[in-house]
Amino acid sequence: MKQFTSVNDVENIDKLLQKALEIKANPFAQQEVGKNKTIGLIFFNPSLRTRLSSLKAAYNLGANVWVLNAGADSWTLEMQDGTVMNGDSQEHITEAIQVMSAYCDVLGVRTFPKLQNRDEDYQEVMFNKVKNLSSVPVVSLESATLHPLQSFADLITIAEKINYNPTEKLTKKVKVVMTWAPHPRRLPQAVPNSFAQWFTKVDWVDFTIVQPKGYELDEQFTQGATIAYNQEEALKDADFVYAKNWSSYEQYGEIIPQEKDWQITMEKMKLTNNGKFMHCLPVRRNVVVADEVLDSDVSIVIDEATNRIFSAQAVFHEILKGLK
Ligand code: CP
Repeated sequence: MKQFTSVNDVENIDKLLQKALEIKANPFAQQEVGKNKTIGLIFFNPSLRTRLSSLKAAYNLGANVWVLNAGADSWTLEMQDGTVMNGDSQEHITEAIQVMSAYCDVLGVRTFPKLQNRDEDYQEVMFNKVKNLSSVPVVSLESATLHPLQSFADLITIAEKINYNPTEKLTKKVKVVMTWAPHPRRLPQAVPNSFAQWFTKVDWVDFTIVQPKGYELDEQFTQGATIAYNQEEALKDADFVYAKNWSSYEQYGEIIPQEKDWQITMEKMKLTNNGKFMHCLPVRRNVVVADEVLDSDVSIVIDEATNRIFSAQAVFHEILKGLK
């Protein structure tokens, strides 16, 4: 693997899934791969899971690791090209990324969208700038439009829960429903875009996206999914319910008020096939999902967060083993 910016960088999803499950069963078996290697992690935005799971993944591989909160821990960075830097910015991104990539063998980067200009966000201007300036392979720790390490961890979690065995054909596809849920703030589409991009490529999954009108995601990520607008109908017989808020793609970055309550409750979970509740976290309790769901056995959100270690470790392993 040369980089990890989306599922399109994965040659064979099933093989990578097997690798992650093997790593989880024996997490310290590949320490030769990380020996004398350094993983750098740059965060332009806050994180709990991505930061700590990536650190743990690097340690498990025997690699060195450093983390930088860009802007907060370093000089204030200038992002625009051609600027006369006589204001608050002390260092340009051009030198900063070249220098930081000289200090590591793999560079992880988190860059959220501004949700102001759809073209700028969807062209991944900021993430691509970092990628193009880096002298080493880049791993997405969540970009403006995608969060592939999260989606891969979600796939690992579902595979574990159904005891997935690639050599045995499933008698029935697994029904996974991604449902829009409420939130008081304007959130990016990176998690749902990425989840859709991965799960439309998994042939043992029957994948539905249910959302209010006006919340349709960019079709480049959702082709192959069943698109629905009635949450109760869509949840019927679901094996996994993946809740997430996102702001509108059409009315870019906006919140469109809803008359119906889209929060996931135990009553709604009872419509499913003893389905499990999933969320990438952090989650707003009693807004996105009721306490009664999160605090019950139907919730597998901690399994997902735990599997963030093994999604990162499998990806770092594949990239590091390809380095000279
Ligand atoms: N799910 C996720 O990426 O969590 P953090 O934002 O805390 O890293």
